[in-house]
Amino acid sequence: MAKEFKNKRGPKRRAARGQLRAKGKTTPGTHVPVLLQEVLATLKPQPGEIVVDCTLGYGAHAVEFGRKIGPEGRLIGLDMDGGELAKTQRRIGIGGARKIFYHKNFSEIAEVLKAEKLEGCDIIFADLGVSSMQVDNADRGISYKSDGPLDMRMDKRLERTGADLLTTLSQDELSKALWELSDEPDHARIAEWIVNQRRVTPITQVSQLVRLVFNAKGITERTWQKQQKTSRFGSLHPAARTFQALRILVNDEMKSLITLLEVAPSCLRPGGRIGIISFQSGEDRLVKQAFNQGLQEGIYETISKDAIRPRTKEIVTNPRCSSARFRWAKISAPGTTGS
Ligand SMILES: C[S@@+](CC[C@H](N)C(=O)[O-])C[C@H]1O[C@@H](n2cnc3c(N)ncnc32)[C@H](O)[C@@H]1O
Repeated sequence: MAKEFKNKRGPKRRAARGQLRAKGKTTPGTHVPVLLQEVLATLKPQPGEIVVDCTLGYGAHAVEFGRKIGPEGRLIGLDMDGGELAKTQRRIGIGGARKIFYHKNFSEIAEVLKAEKLEGCDIIFADLGVSSMQVDNADRGISYKSDGPLDMRMDKRLERTGADLLTTLSQDELSKALWELSDEPDHARIAEWIVNQRRVTPITQVSQLVRLVFNAKGITERTWQKQQKTSRFGSLHPAARTFQALRILVNDEMKSLITLLEVAPSCLRPGGRIGIISFQSGEDRLVKQAFNQGLQEGIYETISKDAIRPRTKEIVTNPRCSSARFRWAKISAPGTTGS
């Protein structure tokens, strides 16, 4: 299979990636780390360094960071999902490195470093979006794959659920979000259907939203399933983009990323590195712009030239990583900044 996809370019390659993504299966209750070798090879964690893993999740990246920084190193893990954080905290060992975990949004990284009495760290790493544990938990309503309440909050302290937003946002706001946060081509029609539907019944369940998207797109679930069986490459689920946009909105994910990108340079020690994996074009654009601007202003000494994408081999074993893009930047040494 790996060979089959290896030399495909353009639409065929994108379709092949889409098909693999649609299959996405991970052992329940676990998460496979994305682009692990590329992350370690570029961020180069060294013995004794301080690493902030902004998105601890299952801790799979953190464990590898821990091995590299060793007993003299220090790992600070953040996650806005208190439930998963507690499970990971109980389970992981990280090669003897000192570790501490915070139930915090990564936009608060500066406050965390202050609480740890640290002036900075050597590595900031963020693997954006949701973990497989969150996607696979039907009670969270993050995925279109199984029915449940349209909650979508990664952090239960957040006030508004997906169902709340579907009730309160205007048609224009919904349409804009669907376009800007997930490139949904049928954004206007879906927004119109949501507003018409909620006049009749509140949209509170995953299955309701899935059905509504199919209706807005003028296809039935049956027709789509049939197409999947016969088409060579398969395609993204019709509701995938709608669910992604709503989840990003519920968790205010863009705002957190913007804040992280703004404060990161002041949280890194001389020689420090930052690496971010994103899964959506809007996020990747923000990362790329911030790193480019930082390079121009002399804040960063070097940045990744292009986004690093998973190889076909990785996508075949972990289809969920197919849209991942990794970028990194290295802070300038003191006295070399343009300011
Ligand atoms: C893709 S998973 C990370 C997986 C992790 N790298 C691993 O190897 O297991 C993303 C995690 O980041 C958390 N998260 C997303 N946005 C966050 C934010 N703004 N602040 C803190 N945690 C966040 C999610 O709750 C989720 O657990």
